[in-house]
Amino acid sequence: MSKSPEARHILHSGYFHPALRKLQTPNVEISPHNLMFPIFVGNNEKPIEVKSMPGIVQYGVSNIEECLKPIVNKGLKSILLFAVEYGIPKDERGSYADSPRNPVIQVLPKLRRCFPDIIIACDVCLCPYTNHGHCGIISKDGVINNEASIERIAQVAVAYAKSGAHIVAPSDMMDGRIGAIKKCLIDAGLGNRVSVLSYAAKFASGFYGPFRDVTKSAPLFSDRKCYQLPPGSKGLATRAALRDVTEGCDMLMVKPGLSYLDIVKQTKDTHPEYPLFVYQVSGEYAMLYHAAKAGAIDLRGVLEEILLSMRRAGADCIITYFTPVILDWLQIRSKY
Ligand code: PBG
Repeated sequence: MSKSPEARHILHSGYFHPALRKLQTPNVEISPHNLMFPIFVGNNEKPIEVKSMPGIVQYGVSNIEECLKPIVNKGLKSILLFAVEYGIPKDERGSYADSPRNPVIQVLPKLRRCFPDIIIACDVCLCPYTNHGHCGIISKDGVINNEASIERIAQVAVAYAKSGAHIVAPSDMMDGRIGAIKKCLIDAGLGNRVSVLSYAAKFASGFYGPFRDVTKSAPLFSDRKCYQLPPGSKGLATRAALRDVTEGCDMLMVKPGLSYLDIVKQTKDTHPEYPLFVYQVSGEYAMLYHAAKAGAIDLRGVLEEILLSMRRAGADCIITYFTPVILDWLQIRSKY
């Protein structure tokens, strides 16, 4: 085809003005509804800075209200809770996960009272509470006992739901846990008041390092490769999402985020009727934080680009430790 002189203007004429650029990026806005803030809660009297994740704070049951208030005032819409406790008695079945002394169980009624408009999700897993550090129950022969694991995980999910969680989010990746949790929620009379957000496509990733340091949840032996997905596999991610949809989950998640945007797209394309979450995990946070600190990247520019890529790939909600910073930027932007 011969090039006409006009051809040079065919693309640029579509986005030379900021308002036109906006029109060219439909549905990839970032608003507070698209952000969920992961929060660590312990029984510490004062907030503690998390060493492996500079800028992130571990809240305590007694100080969470004053710490979260300024973020809620900036537009925070949803949070994802993780309990952090040092020196807790760990055992085979992760008894502390649903003990009345667990900080998440303690903080839920308080959060519901103080922040009635915030959606509260709870991560459901056994790894911070088991003495072997795995996400389920281990049989005597050293392998995961799937049946015992999902029964226990469903018990824990119901305990969080009864304490006030709007969403329970199982991150263990055991087969059948969504169905087991749904059944137990219905039996407990909570079937229509609590959503199940499935960590459906969760990969065995090196990006969880800083998180495991905070929650002291690294496995004592072996790794999580028998229940978390191999990073190169698309097919297993498709099957995992289908499994969880079939079992009755309400929402889906892909984790980690940036390295798995093809999985985000395929999950959204296959299950467009399910809200899709993507988790920008602790290692992704640390990578951006340290690169920006070293002067290699401009945090705001790069983070915005990543968030837009996640939305473009099909994520409805991004779980990110940067939520408070992004809310600040959104407030500044809305003034102009
Ligand atoms: C627990 C869990 C993990 C994360 C969320 N829930 C760790 C893991 O699976 O090893 C990681 C979150 C992050 O890195 O920010 N199963």
